[in-house]
Amino acid sequence: MTVITVFNQKGGVGKTTTCVNLTAALARMERKPLAIDLDSQAHLTLSLGLAGIPGKDSIAGFFRDDRSLEDLITTARGGLKVIPSHLELAKIDALFGSNKSIAGKLRAGVRESFPMNGTPILIDCCPTMGVLTLNAVLAADRILIPVSADYLSLQGVHRLDAALEALEKSLKRKFPRKVVVTRFDSRRKLSYEIYDKVGQHVGDMLCSTCITENVSLAEGPSHGMDVFSYAPHSQGAKDYQLLAEELLGQGFFD
Ligand SMILES: Nc1ncnc2c1ncn2[C@@H]1O[C@H](COP(=O)(O)OP(=O)(O)OP(=O)(O)O)[C@@H](O)[C@H]1O
Ligand SMILES: [Mg+2]
Repeated sequence: MTVITVFNQKGGVGKTTTCVNLTAALARMERKPLAIDLDSQAHLTLSLGLAGIPGKDSIAGFFRDDRSLEDLITTARGGLKVIPSHLELAKIDALFGSNKSIAGKLRAGVRESFPMNGTPILIDCCPTMGVLTLNAVLAADRILIPVSADYLSLQGVHRLDAALEALEKSLKRKFPRKVVVTRFDSRRKLSYEIYDKVGQHVGDMLCSTCITENVSLAEGPSHGMDVFSYAPHSQGAKDYQLLAEELLGQGFFD
């Protein structure tokens, strides 16, 4: 497996949308991906039409009850393999936050449950830097950072890069990463400016594919579907297909 953590501590930048639809794009390409919802808001879980799963059968069961990750895999309506989340995940920080060894639990669990065979595992993070996000970052082979095409999101890129560099220094390991600009609106000059500025800051870490603002990407979750199932001919589906192809071409999932 290759673990790709979809991370940005800023809220609403398209982490969950990217995680759902990149997973769906990879599934269509027969890469047999797995998505892990590591956000107690459970937006990825709900976006894929998985409601009513008990806490013990969610990723909270892994952290709290030592359930194996394999046992927690469920299949969403469109056929995607998912380890769902539950509101109970919000308690993990309070329960285990002071236990130093908890930060490496997900990395150890992934290594125990999944062979090293190139299966992509995509982790959707919450927008805060607590114990769960630290687990996701430490488990990562690669990090994918969605940045929405607006001014405040651009400001967050600088802080995010500094935080990852500090972590790299203390852990003495690199986190190969890519940045993808989301919610790009071709009618707005600002979108182009943000794309250029992100490029100036992160250089070739910036994906050339942008994800455009597209209504099908926003509507899919209310039908419990990824964009390929909900609107296969939409611009949103095209963008995520292109992003998957670009990242595959660069060996991001190997
Ligand atoms: N390209 C897009 N076009 C249209 N709507 C989008 C697009 N990307 C995301 N959205 C919508 O914007 C909102 C925020 O997106 P999303 O939930 O993916 O962000 P997030 O970074 O996961 O948020 P959080 O930090 O709360 O987890 C959602 O309602 C989603 O449907
Ligand atoms: Mg989210």
